[in-house]
Amino acid sequence: MKVIITKDQKAAGVEGYKVFADAIKNGAKVFGLATGSTPVTTYEEIVKSDLDFSNSTSINLDEYVGISPDNDQSYKYFMNEHLFSKKPFKNSYLPNGLAEDPEAETVRYNKIIADNPIDLQLLGIGRNAHIGFNEPGTSTELETHVADLTESTIEANARFFEHVEDVPKQAYSMGIGSIMKSKKILLEAFGEDKADAVAKMIEGPVTKDVPASILQKHDDVVVLIDEAAASKLT
Ligand code: F6R
Repeated sequence: MKVIITKDQKAAGVEGYKVFADAIKNGAKVFGLATGSTPVTTYEEIVKSDLDFSNSTSINLDEYVGISPDNDQSYKYFMNEHLFSKKPFKNSYLPNGLAEDPEAETVRYNKIIADNPIDLQLLGIGRNAHIGFNEPGTSTELETHVADLTESTIEANARFFEHVEDVPKQAYSMGIGSIMKSKKILLEAFGEDKADAVAKMIEGPVTKDVPASILQKHDDVVVLIDEAAASKLT
């Protein structure tokens, strides 16, 4: 793992942008993308740049089950707001939160990933070290599946909703098996409440209880963190 530590999340946005720019220079065409607070500054820098994704494909990590793509809490809405409306891709894929048959939706999504191998996958990390919505204990072999969100994740995501009860209890998520097939991975984490997860991911044993620790076994991972998120590294 290559670890880059910046002063804060704003400075990290520039580094995150550089990882995308380098990947494009090296021929990357398929980008795995994430939502949440973490990737926002990287998306801001990409939007300001002259990077061109009009011949590229994006495949998002996850989407809430039961939420319409037009709902402003959906990940589709988030992606449009932060990236797609300003930097359009040729094709952009997210799971369909309203799919009638969840099993068929996971099959459809896995086929999209198989047909478009991911060159660069951007990840955030949960306070419990989840990646995507692969919560502690999840098998590392899984592809896209319907995940039950843990209490800790529901609580963390409640900040985007009016009431904690409004946070969906399930999400479609790319599995760790799918994530590990990406050619290159950029994991970002900012703030002190990610420091424990970051230390366990980088310095702890590889275990299902710390889903992100599996990234130690991938041979091209950049971990981009701010000083606060790095504060528990030895
Ligand atoms: C989002 C995702 C999640 C988040 C993680 C951190 O697409 O897959 O794993 O990356 O929950 O969320 P933030 O960035 O809001 O702290």
